[in-house]
Amino acid sequence: MRLKDKTALITGAARGIGLAFARAYLAEGAEVAIADINLAAAEKAAESLGPKAHAIALDVTKQESIDAAFAGAVAKMGKLDILINNAALFVAAPTVEITRADYDKLFAVNVAGTLFCQQAAARHMIARGQGGTIINMASQAGRRGEGLVAVYCATKAAVISLTQSAGLDLIKHGINVNAIAPGVVDGEHWDGVDAFFAKYEGKAPGQKKKEVGEAVPFGRMGTAEDLTGMAIFLATPEAKYIVAQCFGVDGGNWMA
Ligand SMILES: NC(=O)c1ccc[n+]([C@@H]2O[C@H](COP(=O)([O-])OP(=O)(O)OC[C@H]3O[C@@H](n4cnc5c(N)ncnc54)[C@H](O)[C@@H]3O)[C@@H](O)[C@H]2O)c1
Repeated sequence: MRLKDKTALITGAARGIGLAFARAYLAEGAEVAIADINLAAAEKAAESLGPKAHAIALDVTKQESIDAAFAGAVAKMGKLDILINNAALFVAAPTVEITRADYDKLFAVNVAGTLFCQQAAARHMIARGQGGTIINMASQAGRRGEGLVAVYCATKAAVISLTQSAGLDLIKHGINVNAIAPGVVDGEHWDGVDAFFAKYEGKAPGQKKKEVGEAVPFGRMGTAEDLTGMAIFLATPEAKYIVAQCFGVDGGNWMA
């Protein structure tokens, strides 16, 4: 039980990687707020995970919603030790077809959402004076550009940068801020990614998934569960000297 008596808020945890994090944290003894814009899905997830999982309504693009969600999570759990900034959106389009609406939407969720949830957690953790852990979900897409994925890549590069600045600023309060950069992780998110590539590269449905999986040095796409070990470790005292880093958990896809 590596997270016994810890409490965590995980954004976008109603499905996918966030839900796997919630399940893994609960198994390690933590109490978890499953915060998502899809409250019905968050409630269903929390119900299936037991009494130490709480569904919280959260739209990371709205400050009132962030304020209410963090206050609600603290009211339910008594405190907040860990934040995982996991909610994100994805779009793909060739450079000449990128829309301002998609740009605004992705930066609002992936970048501003990460920044202002990080701020809400940091304010609580500083006031409480017991330190804390913030984990931001970056991506291999934040390490480099991709022809059809300019906006998403730019948001994830911004997440890495926000992690570095906050990591340096908050460590004096005992708050460790780090990021995880997954590679290609199978699930509903990647079903959507596959559909974009089917549209723009004329691939059959499922073809892009097959190709990216085969290209991973490990030999397959990742699963959400492949990421949970790093998310647990970063929240333990063993990780207290790790500051402002971004860790690839990607089967060998990317190297510094
Ligand atoms: N799946 C991958 O291959 C992959 C690769 C690299 C990085 N990532 C990153 O990992 C994280 C999780 O990815 P996933 O595959 O589980 O995604 P997903 O699309 O399956 O889940 C995202 C969740 O975020 C929620 N959400 C969307 N907008 C929101 C908002 N405004 N406020 C609150 N919640 C909102 C959704 O309802 C959903 O439950 C994301 O940050 C993603 O960018 C994923």
